[in-house]
Amino acid sequence: MTSAARSCLAVVLAAGEGTRMKSAKPKVLHHVANRSLVGHVLATLAEAGATQTAVVIGPDREDVEKEVRGILPDARIFVQRERLGTGHAVLSARDALAAKPDDVIVAYADTPLVTTETFARLRAPLAEGAAVVAMAFEARNPSGYGRLITSGDDLLAIREHKDASEAERAITLCNGGLMAIRGDVALTLLERIGNSNAKGEYYLTDIVEIAREAGYRAAIAVVPEEEVHGVNDRAQLAAAERMIQERLRERAMAAGVTLVAPETVFLSHDTTFGQDVVVEPHVVFGPDVVVEAGATIHSFSHLEGARVASGAGIGPFARLRPGAVIGPKAKVGNFVELKNANLGAGAKVSHLTYLGDATIGAGANIGAGAITCNYDGFAKARVEIGEGAFVGSNSSLVAPLTIGEGAYVGSGSVVTENVPADALALGRGRQVVKEGWAARFREKAKAAKGQ
Ligand code: UD1
Ligand code: MG
Repeated sequence: MTSAARSCLAVVLAAGEGTRMKSAKPKVLHHVANRSLVGHVLATLAEAGATQTAVVIGPDREDVEKEVRGILPDARIFVQRERLGTGHAVLSARDALAAKPDDVIVAYADTPLVTTETFARLRAPLAEGAAVVAMAFEARNPSGYGRLITSGDDLLAIREHKDASEAERAITLCNGGLMAIRGDVALTLLERIGNSNAKGEYYLTDIVEIAREAGYRAAIAVVPEEEVHGVNDRAQLAAAERMIQERLRERAMAAGVTLVAPETVFLSHDTTFGQDVVVEPHVVFGPDVVVEAGATIHSFSHLEGARVASGAGIGPFARLRPGAVIGPKAKVGNFVELKNANLGAGAKVSHLTYLGDATIGAGANIGAGAITCNYDGFAKARVEIGEGAFVGSNSSLVAPLTIGEGAYVGSGSVVTENVPADALALGRGRQVVKEGWAARFREKAKAAKGQ
């Protein structure tokens, strides 16, 4: 039976204390690439074929439970009342383990860089008869990690740093922490773990020797050190962000996106690009952005919750906020902000504009400095602008308001009443010209100063 056809219980350990984060919120709720650490791990496990997920959280961690449920509504939550070690933490999910899935994967919620492929490689030896598989890596600095004692392809034991002899400490092949266990024996083996060791903890890692004593085989899957990266403090959080950003940029470029200066572009885990999108330097993507084929995002723009259709141009210095929908070949220029606003195909809003709660028809032109006045301090209202309409510069469009197709709004107008199609609306003081006034004024002023 291949891994894909086997049932798989993922046990995610999220009972971390996270005191080194110096944060009011638990460590695993901190974000990288706009998703919580635990969110990354849950998403990867789902992709790797977990058929059920159990998350072990600390006591009184409703916030972590809420986050987990938001991502994976059918996840089972288990509370580890006392933090007695990784073996004890896994056993907190006893009820889920008792169902004897084919495979069990143990993952850490604070280790967000493990890939789908790695989880798959971790599971593979189970299908070939191994009872335990540990994730192994060559450590540049092995201090603090459990050391892997191997013989050929077999894993004989994992020795925690504090319990290791000098000779064992010289080993650089280390335990990444994640593990795959055969589901039919997992509970029996886990229950045999004791706590007579340097830390007085129930070590999950002891399962290797326990399995071998029971006549089972243990194996390793070697992965790059990067994947083992755990987050314990803000510097490690930033390092995780850096590594995930690198992956996201590479993924975008591999899909046919030009990133002129990739290291200056910040992506979200869910940013979606069509082919031949060009992203200029210094652009930030918040969550939930889709950019369709051939659109260009110019420098210094910030996008979140936005959809940009093909061939559109955004920025430089544009801000697209949630609900911004930019039509094909539309143009959003510099210092323009859109929120909950739909810009029709080929429409232009080129300079210094705020459009909130608005619909702008295809081909319309919104002049420099025009703004929607969509909020009265209590409620929002909409502005509807018809196709081909022309809104003169520096106009204030007071919602609720409809401007018909092809209508004109004179520059500097404060528009409070609906404008029919093809009409001209002027909402400004009529200009007065006084011939010779300036010359007379100067004469009088000079004379007064001379006295
Ligand atoms: C563990 C491994 C070590 C490995 C290292 C890799 C054990 C005994 N040791 O050590 O071999 O090299 O990870 O990073 O497994 N947790 C709980 N409840 C507990 C204890 C831990 O939920 O009672 C969670 C932690 O939040 C964390 C994970 O389990 O996410 C690992 O715990 P940690 O204390 O960091 O283990 P290490 O000592 O680093
Ligand atoms: Mg650790």
